[in-house]
Amino acid sequence: MTGMKILLINGSPRTNGNTSELVNRFLDEIGNKASVEEVRIYGMDIKGCRNCGMCQKTILEEHCAIGDGMSGLYRKFLSSDLIVLASPIYMWQFTPCTLAFLNRLHGLCHSKDFSYNAMAGKKMAVLITLGAEEEVADFAVNGLREFCEFFSVEYKGDVRVPFAVKERISAGEYDKEIREFATKILE
Ligand SMILES: Cc1cc2nc3c(=O)[nH]c(=O)nc-3n(C[C@H](O)[C@H](O)[C@H](O)COP(=O)(O)O)c2cc1C
Repeated sequence: MTGMKILLINGSPRTNGNTSELVNRFLDEIGNKASVEEVRIYGMDIKGCRNCGMCQKTILEEHCAIGDGMSGLYRKFLSSDLIVLASPIYMWQFTPCTLAFLNRLHGLCHSKDFSYNAMAGKKMAVLITLGAEEEVADFAVNGLREFCEFFSVEYKGDVRVPFAVKERISAGEYDKEIREFATKILE
């Protein structure tokens, strides 16, 4: 056990699909090397940011004026060292709930002058499945990389499963990549 705390945000709507199988293989690989809490966010009440601006004027106790399912997730985010997103690619992007989660992290930073940035120093990585070739995930991954750079989050890498078929993931076809990914994110 490294003592590292990982928050795994699973943004796939399917509890038994390709992404969830990738998550299972990842959890097997991590074993007891870190503590991992997985949260399935599809179906949770996580609204998109409404740009009310409250979080940018002050540091709100709940980090956001909306006060929905994100409240608990802010707490989990802040007490974690590393956040692993797991998402299929939908229309060249992460799923809507994953994007809503990322939108709402704005509540953790005053992004005009960075006088407050509770994301600084966190680490992020991503597990991705998609129906086409892996380059189709570039748009989403590049956006996340920009996000990380802007908010001083360290981007630790990704695993992409192109032409995803669950049985091939469970047969161990991606285990080597998952092992390398796990080693890298625990560094
Ligand atoms: C609404 C929708 C949009 C999708 N858009 C893309 C896409 O833009 N590019 C792609 O390669 N695959 C796309 N896919 C395929 C999924 O990314 C792929 O099947 C994925 O492995 C599903 O993950 P899951 O089993 O966890 O649901 C899309 C699937 C759906 C349902």
